[in-house]
Amino acid sequence: MHLDLTQEQAMIQQMARDFAEKEVRPIAQSIDREARFPRETVARMGELGLMGIAVPEGYGGSGSDAVAYTLAVEEIARACASHAVIMSVNNSLYCDPVLAHGTEEQKARFLTPYASGKKIGCFALTEPEAGSDASNQTTLARAEGDGYVLDGRKVFVTNGREASAALVFAQTDRAAGRRGITAFLVEKGTAGFTVVKTEDKLGIRASDTAELLFERCRVPAANRLGAVGQGFKIALATLDGGRIGIAAQALGIATAAYEAAVAYARERKSFGVPIGQHQMVQWMLADMATTIEAARLLTRRAAWRKDSGAPYGAEAAMAKLFAAETAMRVTTDAIQVHGGYGFIKEYQVERHFRDAKITQIYEGTSQIQKLVIARRLLGAVAQVA
Ligand code: CAA
Repeated sequence: MHLDLTQEQAMIQQMARDFAEKEVRPIAQSIDREARFPRETVARMGELGLMGIAVPEGYGGSGSDAVAYTLAVEEIARACASHAVIMSVNNSLYCDPVLAHGTEEQKARFLTPYASGKKIGCFALTEPEAGSDASNQTTLARAEGDGYVLDGRKVFVTNGREASAALVFAQTDRAAGRRGITAFLVEKGTAGFTVVKTEDKLGIRASDTAELLFERCRVPAANRLGAVGQGFKIALATLDGGRIGIAAQALGIATAAYEAAVAYARERKSFGVPIGQHQMVQWMLADMATTIEAARLLTRRAAWRKDSGAPYGAEAAMAKLFAAETAMRVTTDAIQVHGGYGFIKEYQVERHFRDAKITQIYEGTSQIQKLVIARRLLGAVAQVA
């Protein structure tokens, strides 16, 4: 793995940092308080090429790579975790599978406007009874005429209300179980497709998390992504990439909390000295810095393997597991360093703490990451050596 960034990766990192500091950080507190989706700055992310970083320029993207993508997500998350997940879902969970499995016609319609940020997409896999057990799909796609008729309910869909298209997974052959799942691209406005609810959440409050309903929703066969019965594999392969993005998001949240803790430890005095001079505070800061650095290396490694064409599912799971646990631990300790001030809304560490929690849950819980890692260890030890 190369530890040095290429010129292009460093440029994207700097551009994302500048944008995050100037345009995202100033609104992060208010959009969290108001649970308001930040349409203007999401559009700006599109203009800056952040909505399709690893998508080739010919399809509206920036033509860069997964390492650059993680650098950008981290920078955006350092300012606002909601912006980071909006961007991450569009890049990894929507654009990536359309790029990998779409026909040229599908790419023209369902990729180019999305990778360029003119539209945003979402990924509709989770159902009320299919969370960690994602293959337990009950949404049906019945073949009828020259297309399919979808019936079912999807929950916890990031970008669900704002998205112009959803990548939807449904059973085309119930008897075949997970091998009977097929993927479809469904545009907003299609009859029978409605957004029924937006969730009010603990964290990432400015991102949109919606429930989608499909009732006799007719989708042409031309909107099927990949082969019949390949949907579950497409979903799991997509999540491998998505988990690298969530690792980067967790890393950005942890870094923001750590930086706030260091600044506070320098200025706040107790017992006549800045609290950073007390060893117990120093230990907390040292643990934060060390685990953040380790999470960064795991995330970079998973992204680098993706870019180099090596298997990266277990590495992505390790990165997401460790970065999410680090984000939760670091944000907890950052509040501890701030004492009572950390518990009030005026200081941003309480937002980082609330935002960190979801990184242990979405795109596979920490427990599911361990399952993915263990299966790989037992099945192919050589891959992680
Ligand atoms: N890539 C491609 N194919 C894969 C794969 C991968 N990474 N991992 C497994 N497969 C294949 C297997 O080889 C198997 O193929 P066959 O049918 O030919 O045998 C098939 O997929 C099924 O694999 P498993 O036997 O491993 O499937 P499983 O039912 O035991 O599930 C699981 C495995 C790891 C638990 C999986 O269900 C999982 O990852 N669950 C968590 C789901 C998740 O992350 N959901 C998040 C949704 S998105 C979200 O959070 C909201 C948002 O908008 C941000």
